[in-house]
Amino acid sequence: MCGIYGFVAPERRDSDTVLAGLRYLEYRGYDSWGVAMADSGGLAVDKDIGSIASARTQLPPARAALGHTRWATHGGVTQANAHPHVDCTGRFALIHNGIVENYAELGSRLRRPHQFRSQTDTEVLVHLLEEATDSEDNLLEALLAAFRQVQGLSAVAVLDARSGQIAAVKNGSPLVVGWGGQACYIASDPVALLDHTREVTFVEDGQAVWLTPDGMSLHSMATGQRLQPQVRHVDWDAERAGLNGYPHFMLKEIHEQPDVLRRIAETKQQEARALADAIRDAGDVILVGCGTAHHAALSARYTLAEIAGRAVVASVASELSPSLPSIGADSLIIAFSQSGETIDVLEAVREARSRGARIAAVTNAEGSALDRFADLTVLLGCGPERCVLATKSYTAKLAIMQMVAWELAGDLARCVEGLRATASQLEVLLDREKIGRRIRETAQLIAGDQHLFILGRGRNYPLALEAALKIKEVTYMHAEGFASGELKHGVIALITSGTPVIALAPDECLRSEILSAAAEVRARGALTIGLSPSAEPELEINLPVDGGEAAPYEIAVVTQLLAYETARLRGCDPDKPRNLAKSVTVK
Ligand code: AGP
Repeated sequence: MCGIYGFVAPERRDSDTVLAGLRYLEYRGYDSWGVAMADSGGLAVDKDIGSIASARTQLPPARAALGHTRWATHGGVTQANAHPHVDCTGRFALIHNGIVENYAELGSRLRRPHQFRSQTDTEVLVHLLEEATDSEDNLLEALLAAFRQVQGLSAVAVLDARSGQIAAVKNGSPLVVGWGGQACYIASDPVALLDHTREVTFVEDGQAVWLTPDGMSLHSMATGQRLQPQVRHVDWDAERAGLNGYPHFMLKEIHEQPDVLRRIAETKQQEARALADAIRDAGDVILVGCGTAHHAALSARYTLAEIAGRAVVASVASELSPSLPSIGADSLIIAFSQSGETIDVLEAVREARSRGARIAAVTNAEGSALDRFADLTVLLGCGPERCVLATKSYTAKLAIMQMVAWELAGDLARCVEGLRATASQLEVLLDREKIGRRIRETAQLIAGDQHLFILGRGRNYPLALEAALKIKEVTYMHAEGFASGELKHGVIALITSGTPVIALAPDECLRSEILSAAAEVRARGALTIGLSPSAEPELEINLPVDGGEAAPYEIAVVTQLLAYETARLRGCDPDKPRNLAKSVTVK
């Protein structure tokens, strides 16, 4: 959440350089943006509400600059609350990704001599820095002195107009630095640096960086001592491709799923084997993730049990505590995360590691904090996911875990064949005008509703949870996924005349039970919408799927499309849903 970008260069660069860098970080927050440029002792700042995509600024060119794209935590979405925040003397511009937990206490101490201009937690930092410069004349030491007073997990970067330098510290949120063409750069994600350099250093927690016209240095936050940076060559390409004719990234990424499955089948066998070996060697296996990644983990729980006969636990990353007593040296934690930066996932794996557990990562982000932390990583390789909603990264996780389960069962080759066939089936489904039309018609029927329920059972239950999350995130309708066995234990009280209920009945898995549940809600006036290979009397509308091994992927794709079409009808922006950010790096 929140994107940080900056440079110190030998020649003056215009503010578009900063805006261009920030545009790669828009997924981290799009409430407001801000840029600070420093040259010849002067500081110029421009900031505004709204997304970086539409940002324009006329700041003078400069040799040092910082930019920020904000996901609001403390203080509303206003121009005053946009970063950078400037100290009372106009010397420092400061940007922040994270939360200052003790901001209220620090604020009341600082408020009298200092002039506060925002309601953010961040602003205390710039006034603390201003005070620290009374005793510390070097920027890095001053920032360290200021940062030592704050509690919480953060990354902070400050631009000093007097020296034309940038200093930054990190104890939680991501930060990466790079060097290219005699300029040094800083960002929240290496993707923002790839226009300038491929040699990057991931700043670790407890480290600080100092960017000056003479170069860049890495330091210990505890002692200020210089550290040897580990330079990593980034050989992957940030997919700069645009929408390729699609109106939204969400739709583009939904359509990429057949290719993603094919690529996984061809290129991920080795990694699937390694993860299967780790599961074989482990005692307890616990799968953790948040949101969609948690739903993928829940699906994997069924897949591992049904295909490989391996029982595992799946937990929301932030709710790992009940499993902690059983975690020890023979435990394996498999952490699912598209971004590899989700704070709850990182905290869960750190806690598990401290108890001796082995950590495996299933992530899309090479070089992410999770990738760097894990003992073993399976990279999804599904290409950058630009839409805030997870679509292709979700089905990629399902495919990887299906391969792992079949490897454990001794028949990976069968799974690879199956995934190839599924990819072709999905391609046909995505091309089929008939289902496209039915999805659009169904979207029209439900777009005016406030509530929607999705019933699944057995392995289709986690798919119901994920379908509901997609609909919630992008349409702002209240959608809930339920295990249909729970229907009569309370949920059925929610059904009134016309309530849309989607029943997932793509295969033989507990089909008669799901159809009975559909009949029961229909008898109470619900509009029943099925995802089934055949029309059934219990289902008023059917969005036909072929079922079989392709079933989970078909359900994912059809419900993603339904969410997308419904969002369009409700006037919602599918790529930038309100209040959400792609990468959740604050608690
Ligand atoms: C997915 O559509 C969501 N935006 C969200 O639930 C996401 O899956 C979750 O925040 C976890 O993110 P991660 O995979 O990057 O860890």
